[in-house]
Amino acid sequence: MSLPEKVRLVEVGPRDGLQNEAQPISVADKVRLVDDLSEAGLAYIEVGSFVSPKWVPQMAGSSEVFAGIRQREGVTYAALAPNLRGFDDALAAGVKEVAVFAAASESFSQRNINCSISESLKRFEPIMEAARKHDIRVRGYVSCVLGCPYEGTVRAEQVAPVARALQQMGCYEVSLGDTIGTGTAGDTRRLFEIVAAQVPRAQLAGHFHDTYGQALANVYASLLEGISVFDSSVAGLGGCPYAKGATGNVASEDVVYLMQGLGIDTGIDLDRLIAAGLRISEVLGRTTGSRVARARTAH
Ligand code: HMG
Ligand code: MG
Repeated sequence: MSLPEKVRLVEVGPRDGLQNEAQPISVADKVRLVDDLSEAGLAYIEVGSFVSPKWVPQMAGSSEVFAGIRQREGVTYAALAPNLRGFDDALAAGVKEVAVFAAASESFSQRNINCSISESLKRFEPIMEAARKHDIRVRGYVSCVLGCPYEGTVRAEQVAPVARALQQMGCYEVSLGDTIGTGTAGDTRRLFEIVAAQVPRAQLAGHFHDTYGQALANVYASLLEGISVFDSSVAGLGGCPYAKGATGNVASEDVVYLMQGLGIDTGIDLDRLIAAGLRISEVLGRTTGSRVARARTAH
């Protein structure tokens, strides 16, 4: 399979990245991050989550963040919604696209959203119906596609029916999440081969956490499988509060650098993206998780 001419990056730093931070982060800093990202050319930014603040306290101010950002023409600003309550709150905040999230492992589903996989899919039905009514696009996630923090191995055959169910209920795209970052390039190729028999490749995306340092290799393996949408996080921010030890997503800067080397267009200004990542890293009081940003700023 030949490589795509263009790749679309879904920037999940403000959501997947910051959701895991225990220290308070001001609404102003979150707004600045989102605005920096849109100015760097990111056309899709996951801004926050409308989830229970008892489960993920850091995302509690998502409405305020939406109210504060400068929405640029042509940029999609999205949010997670786990149930109808979250969808309604997202709608009230002016959100135009939401994401629902299921898992390929029962234990993770219970720990993350307090219900079984099939209950979660039922819970999404009213969201899909409301979304159709309000002309809101819905993206779907499947977590633990290459391993589960509670169950260990997850087979691609467990992932495919969940991805298919999300696509069938109306998700225009399904992002496959290696939540704990244990998957390798070989696992990734096999995963997409199996899932693509149920969901067209053009409707699949890759979401790789970098815990084992495999994320960039997995992005490349996905490209070879005909996948052209990737979730990434500026400065490699993040983790998942319900997957202990899991680190952030593959750094957006590193994915852009990889794509530039392959001659694949992302529409992103790497220098501005690096600057956005350095700024939020400074706010958080840590060094950036992007290898490219570190190399470019080494003295
Ligand atoms: P529950 O406790 O079963 O919910 O949680 P409930 O319906 O019984 O309600 C309990 C309380 O929560 C009630 O309040 C509700 O009003 C409130 P109380 O009466 O006790 O005061 N509540 C809400 N509040 C605000 N917004 C809402 C909402 N819903 C109920 N939407 C629930 C179920 C799904 C709500 C909870 O488990 C939850 O919020 N989970 C979210 C977990 C999460 O955000 N995880 C991280 C995102 S997923 C991820 O990172 C993986 C991903 O990146 C892909 C990958 O890497 O694999 C996407
Ligand atoms: Mg994630």
